[in-house]
Amino acid sequence: DESKTPYDLLGEKEGIAKLVTTFYSLVSQDSLLSPLFPEDLTETAYKQTQFLSQFFGGPPFYTEEHGHPMLRARHMPFPITNSHAKAWIACMEKAMTIQKIDPDLQNILLSRLKMTAFHMVNTEDSER
Ligand code: HEM
Repeated sequence: DESKTPYDLLGEKEGIAKLVTTFYSLVSQDSLLSPLFPEDLTETAYKQTQFLSQFFGGPPFYTEEHGHPMLRARHMPFPITNSHAKAWIACMEKAMTIQKIDPDLQNILLSRLKMTAFHMVNTEDSER
């Protein structure tokens, strides 16, 4: 059904929450990404579920609770390099495969996420 949003196809908020849980368990095992994140990822996962819901065409849960996402600004406290963006996308791709998301849908979602991920880069790799 072409009127379905990615949010619908992912199983709405519950489906996205599962994807996000898998994603952060991979992030916490990634030696490049994990040092940037808090040890307890509960709140991070909660916000990411809200954000990805709206990013993929669902209700604006993130904005309702936290205001405008301003993602690049919210990531400025963290030194994010191209390598971090690649690692972030690799974890998301793996999480989507683990959650058995249809490969065609994966391609669409990952190409959108890649643009956002590389937009977060605020530090040269050599500066680390
Ligand atoms: C928050 C890292 C890409 C969405 C965060 C936090 C870190 C981080 C360290 C703070 C976690 C916390 O204190 O709870 C990264 C890195 C990325 C990346 C290294 C690599 C490029 C992205 C992308 C998206 C995203 C592509 C969206 C598609 C968010 C959201 C939050 C967040 C919604 C919560 C913001 C808030 O505090 O309200 N990220 N991120 N991030 N990130 Fe990322």
